Amino acid sequence: MDSTLKQTLVDAIRNIPDYPKPGVMFRDITTLLGNARAFRRAVDELVHPYTGGKVDKVAGIEARGFIIGGAMAHQLSSGFVPIRKKGKLPHDTVSIAYSLEYGVDEMEMHRDAIVPGEKVILVDDLIATGGTAEGAVKLLQQMGADIVGACFIIDLPELGGRKKLEALGVNVRTLIA
Ligand code: PRP
Ligand code: ADE
Repeated sequence: MDSTLKQTLVDAIRNIPDYPKPGVMFRDITTLLGNARAFRRAVDELVHPYTGGKVDKVAGIEARGFIIGGAMAHQLSSGFVPIRKKGKLPHDTVSIAYSLEYGVDEMEMHRDAIVPGEKVILVDDLIATGGTAEGAVKLLQQMGADIVGACFIIDLPELGGRKKLEALGVNVRTLIA
């Protein structure tokens, strides 16, 4: 990936100090999503390694992973699977607890969303501690998904999430750190 594209993406992301709490630098992708060129280029770059092969489903993590994952699924002619916070999906679900910076939460997907053996890409906007993505990987694996990769626009490497996913044997792709 060329350095001008990296710079385009960095410039398109807004940094908000001390949000949602003191000491956190929040990486706000709404400005990237509102920038037609940056949004298209980010999605093009994320799908690039997968355009030659068959991807059955893109699984996006609520909420920002829905926006990026939906665009990727359209581009790859794949299905889209929402991984949602507990209590939002209407049919039979499977769920998993996952760790956040403080405490735990639960995420769910529909039990029939993946056929065992389907090739799936996991998508979110950002990986920090990796607790959210790790939960999603375990949920997909439990459903028999063949996870061909996990991708994120932003990596916060000092928080170790990428390494956590790689330790689970997942191929991780991020655009900027
Ligand atoms: C953010 C982000 C990832 C997660 C990354 O979502 O979109 O899903 O945090 O953090 P982690 O790697 O430490 O788990 P958030 O939980 O803020 O939810 P939202 O997208 O619904 O705002
Ligand atoms: N999720 C976890 N850490 C984050 C950060 N610094 N910016 C945006 N989303 C996040």
